[in-house]
Amino acid sequence: TNENIVFYLLAYLIGSIPFGLILAKTFAGVDIKNDGSRSIGATNVLRVVKKTNPTLAKKLGIATVILDALKGTILLLVGMFIFNLSAETLWTMAVLSVLGHCYSIYLGLDGGKGVATGLGVYIVLIPISTLIGAIVWFIFAKLLKISSLSSLLALIAVIISSIFINNGLDIGSNAPMYIIAFIIVYKHIPNIIRLLKGEEKKVV
Ligand code: G3P
Repeated sequence: TNENIVFYLLAYLIGSIPFGLILAKTFAGVDIKNDGSRSIGATNVLRVVKKTNPTLAKKLGIATVILDALKGTILLLVGMFIFNLSAETLWTMAVLSVLGHCYSIYLGLDGGKGVATGLGVYIVLIPISTLIGAIVWFIFAKLLKISSLSSLLALIAVIISSIFINNGLDIGSNAPMYIIAFIIVYKHIPNIIRLLKGEEKKVV
């Protein structure tokens, strides 16, 4: 319906807002698109800002995760509880939020890697699996201090737990969940190559 198209557009346009880039530029005066991994996510905010201001880096990194997650979460909650949108519509919005973050219209279709925004949409739609994923992320981030690997392991935990909790093996009805996971993995290919070569940088 027409109403759905408005939500799809909003999901993509809001998802496209590069909060990490904006925060790092505004509060630390650095351009994270031309430094570190050149990604616009919280990890690269932390990595790049830390070089000049470690305390600020942590704050901006945390703010980036929260804002990048919320840009997926809030719209889904509005669609779910105020507009009673169907599960299909909500899942389509979720995919578009992550696509916006990873291929931002404001950055010439460049962007981040979808972890925080993926978290923000998954937490609404598959909350238990997402909580399990978040715990896995924290454990590995603490142990290994490598953000990309922690994110990929967390994503695997989300998918595996969803097989048990949300009948995830039914690929048809879970297609959007897999599409989001695919986008995140696809965007991590440079990280995966570095990990295999043993060249991936620690968080900072
Ligand atoms: O959240 C993205 C993270 O998994 C990797 O980021 O900047 O290390 O490529 P980065």
